[in-house]
Amino acid sequence: MTSRRVLVTGHHGYIGSVLVRLLTEAGYQVVGLDNDLFVNNRFVGQVTHVAGLRRDLRDIAAADLEGFEAVLHLAALSNDPLGSLNPELTYKINNEASMQLARLAKKAGVGRFLFSSSCSMYGAAGPGMLDENAPFNPVTPYAESKVLVERQLTSLEDQDFSPVFLRNTTAYGVSPFMRFDIVLNNLVGSAYTTGKVLIHSDGTPWRPLIHVEDICRAFIAVLEAPREVVHNQAFNVGVTEENYQVRELAEIVREVVPGCVVAYSPNGGPDPRSYRVNFSKIKDALPGFQPKWNVRRGAQELYAACCEARLTLEDFEGPRFTRITHIRKLLADGRLDSRLRWTSTGPVAVPAVSAV
Ligand SMILES: NC(=O)c1ccc[n+]([C@@H]2O[C@H](COP(=O)([O-])OP(=O)(O)OC[C@H]3O[C@@H](n4cnc5c(N)ncnc54)[C@H](O)[C@@H]3O)[C@@H](O)[C@H]2O)c1
Repeated sequence: MTSRRVLVTGHHGYIGSVLVRLLTEAGYQVVGLDNDLFVNNRFVGQVTHVAGLRRDLRDIAAADLEGFEAVLHLAALSNDPLGSLNPELTYKINNEASMQLARLAKKAGVGRFLFSSSCSMYGAAGPGMLDENAPFNPVTPYAESKVLVERQLTSLEDQDFSPVFLRNTTAYGVSPFMRFDIVLNNLVGSAYTTGKVLIHSDGTPWRPLIHVEDICRAFIAVLEAPREVVHNQAFNVGVTEENYQVRELAEIVREVVPGCVVAYSPNGGPDPRSYRVNFSKIKDALPGFQPKWNVRRGAQELYAACCEARLTLEDFEGPRFTRITHIRKLLADGRLDSRLRWTSTGPVAVPAVSAV
């Protein structure tokens, strides 16, 4: 068993909470850091308890980074709608605070800095397959923030500090801090709660997908790979065979969820966010990365979880599992201020981490 000490930011998020579980199972000593924006929004499944700092990324201090061999940095405003709420704030949280974290990590002697980046930095790309050399074409403040951090992190690399860029494609699957605002989770949730697999476009856009656990397996493979294999490298994180058109995803969901039909939203037209991604690099460079899921099994897992949770339409459509709607509600209720910091009523209402 290893007992290597790592810091995971965003550990009370959709991916981070699964990552903490898999790292702990692999023998890592994990410390988490999160400002707990979504910590009340539990879904099914156990939360793995680790030592945690309830801390805003913007307030990180040198002492927070002492004694880690790696930082796995996931905390962020994590999708396009959240990133567009206030682009200046997105810049401050996703970019400036990430770079401050990286500089402090480097100063503290942390050897590896794994950045949770995104394939969305390739932007509107057409039907061709994108690899890591594809030009960046970010079309939203969120995607722009990922490009900026990658560029700036590169300038910190040296023989003692290895930034690595994990460009995740869209995740799916069950997490204790669930999201239903990502495509496969959304299609299954819609089928379960309404009997309709509701497609919000014309169904033609391409989406590469990966299970949330397999994203975490990629992070662990990067942690365990020889330094020279990952040093200052970008990896698209996904599986080449798992590029789907949205209408294909909907068809799989229809076959998995009993008694539902595929339907198209009346406002749905062509969606410019269509791209196909080649994931050969991670497969060839990191033999330790062994993805275990595919979309059909993921849809079955999601359907079973919806049944276990008895997911209601209100929860499916409301703030509980949709990041932007939840943040809008916290703002409207005065629990977050306009800089997305907890007001005096916020932290009091959030249960202690150990009670989750
Ligand atoms: N889920 C996906 O499909 C996907 C795809 C590509 C990339 N990513 C990236 O992976 C990372 C994790 O995504 P996720 O789906 O788990 O998102 P998430 O929204 O579920 O989790 C993000 C976490 O960051 C925390 N956070 C936000 N602002 C913070 C701040 N100022 N200080 C401290 N903590 C803060 C939130 O409380 C939350 O727990 C993000 O960087 C996201 O951009 C996700």
